[in-house]
Amino acid sequence: MSPLSILLLSILSGSVLCQYYDYEGYLDPSHLLGPSGPNCPQNCDCPMNFPSAMYCDGRRLKSIPGIPPGVKYLYLQNNQIEEIKAGAFANVTDLRWLILDNNRIKSSKVEKGAFEKLASLERLLFSYNDLSEPVGPLSKSLVELKMIGNKLSMIPANLMVGLENLTSVHLQENELTTEGLDGALEGLKSLHYLDISHNKLGKLPAGVPKSVQMLYADNNKIASIAKDYLQNLPQLQYLRISHNELADSGIPAGAFNVSSLIELDLSYNKLASIPEVNENLENLYLQVNEISKFDLGSFCKIVGPVNYSKLRHLRLDGNHLTRSSVPFDASNCLRQAAELTVDATD
Ligand SMILES: *[C@@H]1O[C@H](CO)[C@@H](O)[C@H](O)[C@H]1NC(C)=O
Ligand SMILES: *[C@@H]1O[C@H](CO)[C@@H](O)[C@H](O)[C@H]1NC(C)=O
Ligand SMILES: *[C@@H]1O[C@H](CO)[C@@H](O)[C@H](O)[C@H]1NC(C)=O
Ligand SMILES: *[C@@H]1O[C@H](CO)[C@@H](O)[C@H](O)[C@H]1NC(C)=O
Repeated sequence: MSPLSILLLSILSGSVLCQYYDYEGYLDPSHLLGPSGPNCPQNCDCPMNFPSAMYCDGRRLKSIPGIPPGVKYLYLQNNQIEEIKAGAFANVTDLRWLILDNNRIKSSKVEKGAFEKLASLERLLFSYNDLSEPVGPLSKSLVELKMIGNKLSMIPANLMVGLENLTSVHLQENELTTEGLDGALEGLKSLHYLDISHNKLGKLPAGVPKSVQMLYADNNKIASIAKDYLQNLPQLQYLRISHNELADSGIPAGAFNVSSLIELDLSYNKLASIPEVNENLENLYLQVNEISKFDLGSFCKIVGPVNYSKLRHLRLDGNHLTRSSVPFDASNCLRQAAELTVDATD
């Protein structure tokens, strides 16, 4: 029996994966932790059993309350905070987590120096505000930075310099251009995760560190990939460039011939043929392009006992391909495939 099973999809769902944003890990356990300490501002909870945390999320706050010394984890999300005064965090220079998501903070209302003394900050969550420029300077100890859903059009080249422990950067749903990211990502030697989807990028950004394992750039205006771009990212495992403007002419030969890559999403582009991919690739998403030819050479240069494609999931629905376009000997090259989706009919 052929291990290749062909699933036929006649109805295409046009739904896009919804941006899912949760507070898992930031759940407010204040009511479980007993009474508040004496120095806690009204409206907030500072559990005596967990004195390093202060919970002020979802309290309709218009400004940042006084923060008693000793707080390391500060939850201020889901309020109506509009500004940050220079001395807002003066009592808590040892702050580790600062969570400001879902407020109304504009860049012009962040006073200079507000973040300067936070030398131990590891996690800065500043999504869904009204920032037109990132806040800074950022602590050298930063591990995670999220500024999703603001109005950032550029990241200054010196903002993240020397942040040796910065592991994940989330900048999706902004107005970033390719030029706006010039130099911004250089030298981040611990960066594993970079999400720049839903921006205005015309190209994948320059200077992405070699440590990156996940690069998400879907929903931009990317029309081409520079030769050897991916060869310079030897740890890259997951690459998403769906919902862009890639045509065959924008993809140099061998662009995706990278042995580290596990998942490649090129769905919703303008490709007319299946690009050549490395045989280690496991998931390839090519649905909704303009592909009319199924060429096994894209997956297997040589087929033999030890030479075959590791692809498990291959989506080709929403192209000009049907079941009869799949070559009869596909199952030999694609012997690991658990899913191969093409349209039932033209
Ligand atoms: C600093 O802590 C003191 C004592 O808890 C408090 O009264 C004051 O409002 C705090 N200041 C700031 C800027 O948080
Ligand atoms: C980076 O992390 C390491 C290990 O946790 C720590 O020793 C070091 O001080 C951190 N670097 C900075 C600049 O905080
Ligand atoms: C793919 O990369 C491998 C190893 O880097 C190389 O040997 C091979 O020639 C390349 N194939 C193509 C089609 O570029
Ligand atoms: C075929 O597999 C062998 C053994 O893993 C490997 O050395 C060789 O490079 C493969 N050939 C191709 C063209 O990938």
